Amino acid sequence: MLDHIIAIVKEAAALTREAFSVHNKSGDADVVTTADENVQRFLHEKLACYLPGSGFVAEEGLSAANDADYVWIIDPIDGTMNFSRGIRHHAISVALAHKGEVIIGVVYAPATDDLYVAQKGRGAFHNGKPMAVSDKPFRQGLLCTAMSLYRKEYTDVCLDIIRDAYGECSDIRRFGTAALELCYLADGLCDLYFEIRIFPWDYAAGYLILTEAGGILTGFAGDPLTLDCTTPLIGANNEENYRRLSEIVGRYMTRSLSDEITAQRVDG
Ligand code: IPD
Repeated sequence: MLDHIIAIVKEAAALTREAFSVHNKSGDADVVTTADENVQRFLHEKLACYLPGSGFVAEEGLSAANDADYVWIIDPIDGTMNFSRGIRHHAISVALAHKGEVIIGVVYAPATDDLYVAQKGRGAFHNGKPMAVSDKPFRQGLLCTAMSLYRKEYTDVCLDIIRDAYGECSDIRRFGTAALELCYLADGLCDLYFEIRIFPWDYAAGYLILTEAGGILTGFAGDPLTLDCTTPLIGANNEENYRRLSEIVGRYMTRSLSDEITAQRVDG
């Protein structure tokens, strides 16, 4: 099954190499390209054929039978802003969930031909090589993070958290594609992750890849990720660093703010 999904994802990736146009969705920071739409259409057609009766939740307005036992959670291009500006740092992210649990995750970066995959209980692999999180302590950690791109009213909270974490770790990175950042964490290239509000299609595949590589990823205060709403994300290479990052997040983020974010249901 995994090989078949990888083949479909790689075929879809060819569509990112064709000419495309860009338009705004909710605002200037929220763009979509015709490549996002073409990749999503292709994945929908092929994956629906491959697994008849399966549901879909995907970034570019696709929601179908998402109460089915098997549901595909798809970001056709994660890092659309990068892609639209010619920054070669974006990825196709495809997760397959069974009864609400992610069982397969595939993240493919077409510009660099990097493929990250995981199957539940079978480990995570980068271009065929087993992945494992780093063993760096917090003070040597690299934190991947972002602002609240599509809800700028959360910026001050993000800045407070990032400032405090930056003061205690080695450095921060903002690559602009959560799916790949979670894979970097899985592969030991960075060690910590925080984002205040993120969509299931951005993290579903990366979540499985990271946890299969030994990492931790939750919502606020250890909340499990439910795949049906926007959520804060806190991730780390190990329990100790996860607790330390959670403590920093908890200085500025409240339960009611987390509830406000997770009350924002998504269905594509
Ligand atoms: C975005 C990217 C970005 C993250 C945002 C996501 P998109 O996904 O993953 O890194 O900070 O939260 O929405 O819109 O490029 O698919």
